[in-house]
Amino acid sequence: MDQKIRWGIIGLGKIAHSFVQDLALVNEAVITAVASRSLEKAKEFASEYEVSLAFGSYKELMECEEVDVVYIATPHRFHANLSIMAMDLGKHVLCEKPLGINKKEVEAMIASSKKNKVFLMEALWSRFNPAIRKVKSLVDNGEIGNIAYVHADFAFYALDRDLKGRVLNPELGGGSLLDVGIYPIFLAYLLLGKPDEVLSTSSFYSNGAEIQTSIIFKYQHAQAVLYSGFTSNSTMRAQISGEKGIITIPERWHQAQGYSVQKEQQQEAFRLPTQGKGYFYEIKEVHACLAEGKLESDLWSHQNSLDLIGLMDTIRDQNGIHFPSSE
Ligand SMILES: NC(=O)c1ccc[n+]([C@@H]2O[C@H](COP(=O)([O-])OP(=O)(O)OC[C@H]3O[C@@H](n4cnc5c(N)ncnc54)[C@H](OP(=O)(O)O)[C@@H]3O)[C@@H](O)[C@H]2O)c1
Repeated sequence: MDQKIRWGIIGLGKIAHSFVQDLALVNEAVITAVASRSLEKAKEFASEYEVSLAFGSYKELMECEEVDVVYIATPHRFHANLSIMAMDLGKHVLCEKPLGINKKEVEAMIASSKKNKVFLMEALWSRFNPAIRKVKSLVDNGEIGNIAYVHADFAFYALDRDLKGRVLNPELGGGSLLDVGIYPIFLAYLLLGKPDEVLSTSSFYSNGAEIQTSIIFKYQHAQAVLYSGFTSNSTMRAQISGEKGIITIPERWHQAQGYSVQKEQQQEAFRLPTQGKGYFYEIKEVHACLAEGKLESDLWSHQNSLDLIGLMDTIRDQNGIHFPSSE
């Protein structure tokens, strides 16, 4: 590629710092601008990562002619509005997960991508993880026979966090389901598709935040047992069991560095370490799609994001998970 893809980052929190370190590993990428609600914070971030432009408002970055793709790294509640604003200003968008907080928002975002003819993708980085891609191809090729059972979870202790922070604040779209439950739901959906039936139950914190959700996806010949929570740590190992064997993705499975296959009492482990932390691969996917003039990725399409949020809407409806000021 002759010309570098110019990235702008909006919302300079925790993930923005991790993302920018992987962006530096991608040859065809350059980060030209960062934006925060605070100009001082933007300047600090820009100086730490040698970024030439720092803005004290998100809109200024969206209007900047030196930015091709905007990466949105704010709390969930702002994903839809900010993505649509950026797309209306002609920018391609990579937006953190979940793409929107409900299906209606995701539909509006996809409509904006189509209307403005710009690329839009949910930053569901696990989809592009080399070990997870390999596991998907093994399953699709029948390596362990028909899948009967998937078990995946994502949990860590978070009840000591600030109640105003994005993790535990329902006003910001907080709670375990959209923050981390999205990963096990994604894995079951990736390997088995949309379930015939969804069963789930949630528990809530004193401030109304959802802090534990257990989910069963029922398929004609398989069940997936999934869990998200903020009330304890978990080893976070994923298991995929088929008629002829078991694939295990070791902890923390969503950022896998390998996998193992067990067949006829023999277990073999394979290492597939990521470049950087693993955001590298979603960045490469954005670049590949832009080079081909695509509006969406084939690996994680608009329909995939719609299906995923549709499943989370169902679980929210079943358990009364509300985000007060946004719906
Ligand atoms: N893919 C992954 O591995 C991964 C990991 C963690 C998080 N995430 C996703 O990334 C997004 C951000 O997560 P994070 O952990 O980076 O969150 P964070 O540390 O709280 O940072 C979020 C940033 O959003 C901006 N923001 C805008 N309006 C805000 C408001 N009303 N309250 C708080 N912050 C506001 C702030 O940036 P400014 O002050 O600079 O404006 C803030 O620093 C979430 O969607 C999350 O699901 C993804």
